[in-house]
Amino acid sequence: MAILITLFPVVKRQTISASLFQSVQRRCKRQLSETEKVTEPPEHEIRVAVAGVGSAVSGMLQAAELYKRGSGTGLLHRVLGPFSPSDISLVAAFDVDERKVGRPVREALQAVPGALPIFTPIKQNLKVEPGLSKNEPASGSPSTKAVSYDSFVSTLEKARPDVLLNAITGGLDSAGEAYAQAALDCGCAFVNATPTPIATSTELETNFRDRRLPLLGDDLLSQIGGTLFHSMVLSVLSSRGVKITQTYQLDVGGGRENEVTVEDDELRLRKRAIKTLTVASVIPYKIKAATGTTEYVDFMGNSRDSRFEIMGESVLGAPIEVEVTLRSVDGANAAGPLLDAVRVAKLCLSKRIGGAIEEVNPYLFKLVRSSVDPVSAERMFNDFIKRVS
Ligand SMILES: NC(=O)c1ccc[n+]([C@@H]2O[C@H](COP(=O)([O-])OP(=O)(O)OC[C@H]3O[C@@H](n4cnc5c(N)ncnc54)[C@H](O)[C@@H]3O)[C@@H](O)[C@H]2O)c1
Repeated sequence: MAILITLFPVVKRQTISASLFQSVQRRCKRQLSETEKVTEPPEHEIRVAVAGVGSAVSGMLQAAELYKRGSGTGLLHRVLGPFSPSDISLVAAFDVDERKVGRPVREALQAVPGALPIFTPIKQNLKVEPGLSKNEPASGSPSTKAVSYDSFVSTLEKARPDVLLNAITGGLDSAGEAYAQAALDCGCAFVNATPTPIATSTELETNFRDRRLPLLGDDLLSQIGGTLFHSMVLSVLSSRGVKITQTYQLDVGGGRENEVTVEDDELRLRKRAIKTLTVASVIPYKIKAATGTTEYVDFMGNSRDSRFEIMGESVLGAPIEVEVTLRSVDGANAAGPLLDAVRVAKLCLSKRIGGAIEEVNPYLFKLVRSSVDPVSAERMFNDFIKRVS
């Protein structure tokens, strides 16, 4: 039996990004007028500093802005513990791309090709400050502006953040570790959206635990991304008795992060290993699996096609095949999980719960100490929030 699911109507390649964005923008506008007004819970400010003013941060800031204007549609959680997305205040933003440093955040978010388009305007005049650079090869920007560690920490301290969010280009491990150290030195929580092992690094994790500072990571799990969707389809087939024999996933997308991944073999292979492990972990026996970013297509902008194929055997050994194409927008896909991550980080900070938050990380991140299937990860997450709120 062959099942072919295409989640969006097939359109010409050249028009994918424009038509997809227009339709999502139209939907956002409709949501503003159609959805009920969201009741704001009492104000509990969450002071957030970001390293990396790219599409993931753009998604988070735009979703928080949309929520303030009355729409919480599509979010994973409107209210999390005592916090709503409106409680998030951006208090500092750092980047090293000279096209972004020194400009207001709302402009910097649009300064490079492949940026997440503006679905809702952000009123964010805070200026982007120079971040930390460790001269790693995949810097992601043609020319960089950076400062010394001491100068960075002094700027960060003045901003008094509750949470430092690391959303820099993937593969910059030394820079990521330096940001984690800066969070420790400033006494704030750390959220690591990148694939650099930080919450899964024994040494850094111990330091955060000793200081009773929360550590969330590593490698954000997109809200409806290929990895999660692929895992869920495998999980459903397995729970219905299908014996999975093999599966693969091909990801094609625009955006700078895709470009860097395709150019940097080590990063591509690391991301492939993380995604493959996450997907294969939902099946209780060994399967042939391969998933990863396969191609960078500049005209796709911030969008991505994840195409996966699953083969297995059903009753009588009859073959069963599934072919799915998921078309999504990277920055938008990061918004919900990031809004959740910074709110959990603040919640844990206020309760002085330090170290890697193991009940939360498998729900929001791909690289974790021990993999948990998506349904159990969600249950663990919800139980934790109920318990500590
Ligand atoms: N759905 C998602 O967007 C998603 C999902 C999973 C993981 N992630 C991870 O989140 C991170 C950000 O993704 P993105 O799509 O926003 O990337 P992006 O390329 O749009 O933005 C990254 C930003 O980081 C900046 N940067 C690079 N080095 C820096 C440094 N040393 N200090 C400060 N800034 C620096 C770049 O100039 C750029 O502005 C990546 O590591 C990515 O792997 C994103």
